[in-house]
Amino acid sequence: MNAAPTVKDIEPVKADPRLKLIAAKIKKENFKPDSLIEVLHIAQNAYGYLPMNVLKYITKALHLPPARVYSTVSFYHFFSLKSKGDHTCLVCTGTACYVKGAQAILNEIEKTFSLRPGQVSTDNKLGVSVARCIGACGLAPVVVLDEEVQARASTTEIVEKINKMVAP
Ligand code: FES
Repeated sequence: MNAAPTVKDIEPVKADPRLKLIAAKIKKENFKPDSLIEVLHIAQNAYGYLPMNVLKYITKALHLPPARVYSTVSFYHFFSLKSKGDHTCLVCTGTACYVKGAQAILNEIEKTFSLRPGQVSTDNKLGVSVARCIGACGLAPVVVLDEEVQARASTTEIVEKINKMVAP
């Protein structure tokens, strides 16, 4: 039988604020395996999908058998194991980021790439999504390009980086 989960199971976490957000939720739920769906919701919202390393992290922190986690993920349509697009651009639209200009960034992305949140380019190179808060409000506005968190993002800089990211 597995030992009861402890804070050690979720710490230290990598610098990615989204993992810290998930860790905080797990801790708040007192490592209860029953909190799986809520924790998965937080992860799906923060990443736009459920990356494998994040699922492994949640599985370990909640001391759950991997099969239970994967069957839960595949049962609910809300969860997705794959990112939309080869490259991803996730714009945080939580309050702090919104106040600091997240909408202007989204508008520029739509103008330049003809993509709205939830859409993916026809060549599947770029997927755009939004998150409510990824736990890095002090760095607002925050955009995550692939797995890289862009702090205090400017519209021009984000468009330039996306162009580089999707360049052939
Ligand atoms: S509101 Fe964007 S990181 Fe919290």
